[in-house]
Amino acid sequence: MTILVTGARGNVGRAVLDALVAAGQDVRASSRDATALDVPDGVAKVSADLESPETLDAALDGVGSVFLYTQRQGIDGFVKAAEAAGVRHVVLLSSAATLEPQSAQSRIARLHRAVEEALAAAPFAETVLNPGAFATNTLGWRQDIAEGVVRSAHPDSRIGAIHERDIADVATRILIDGSHVGEALALTGPEPISFREQAAILADVLGRPLAVEELTPEQAAERMVALGFPPEVPPEILRAWARTTREPSLVTNVVRDVTGAAPRTFRQWAEEHRADFA
Ligand SMILES: NC(=O)c1ccc[n+]([C@@H]2O[C@H](COP(=O)([O-])OP(=O)(O)OC[C@H]3O[C@@H](n4cnc5c(N)ncnc54)[C@H](OP(=O)(O)O)[C@@H]3O)[C@@H](O)[C@H]2O)c1
Repeated sequence: MTILVTGARGNVGRAVLDALVAAGQDVRASSRDATALDVPDGVAKVSADLESPETLDAALDGVGSVFLYTQRQGIDGFVKAAEAAGVRHVVLLSSAATLEPQSAQSRIARLHRAVEEALAAAPFAETVLNPGAFATNTLGWRQDIAEGVVRSAHPDSRIGAIHERDIADVATRILIDGSHVGEALALTGPEPISFREQAAILADVLGRPLAVEELTPEQAAERMVALGFPPEVPPEILRAWARTTREPSLVTNVVRDVTGAAPRTFRQWAEEHRADFA
């Protein structure tokens, strides 16, 4: 049966699409604007807005499994449409925020948990992916890197930066074999790595020096709001980064356990993404 990949233009969604195509699967790709999708030959494209359930019927027609992004609203509509279409398994891209002890106070965790709970109560099978911080977050440094500097309020925060292709490889394995039903999988990269170390690796890979400049939390929050974060979110993220300067994020073996391969390092990510910083 067909596998629907939502968010097929996104960093993770595109990697899922490519991995499923490489595995010879029958794949359909969705975006809110299918005309903006550039997909491999043989992949069907469809427009679908997860927050407007009335747009989902065509996307879900004949679909057995779905790779799903967490949406802000409309999950009940998605569940109804997926049930009506006969979907058997949904693999959700959620967040490690829902696994953290202080998650009740976290807006990011509450948003993701609402979707996790709606899927857990749905009549079809679900698997929840709970990745920690993405290596792709450093794409947000592109402007700074062009100026020869990386700016951060907590440069020594150590996080288990995960490559989007490792999340995608886990999702792909599960979408194909229907395993890990009812599980929540905490996904991380191979080791805790600080922002300062990520900047040093990028400098090495890009072949140019990069200074690290420390921002105040207020300056960092202002920059995140300018990038489009709702104002209540940056303080939460900054608190997590402050915490991981004292105690690095946990790393797990889940990527290796599911895929059989070690998670990719930040250096591998940087080498693959060199052109994105050109
Ligand atoms: N960044 C992190 O460190 C981190 C850590 C843990 C979890 N996460 C999770 O991962 C997500 C980001 O993944 P990413 O980097 O792959 O994202 P991304 O590159 O920003 O892509 C987001 C995708 O979501 C789609 N989308 C947005 N609103 C939609 C809607 N209403 N209906 C259908 N599709 C919609 C977009 O598709 P179109 O624009 O084509 O419609 C886009 O392809 C976060 O939102 C969070 O849930 C992130």
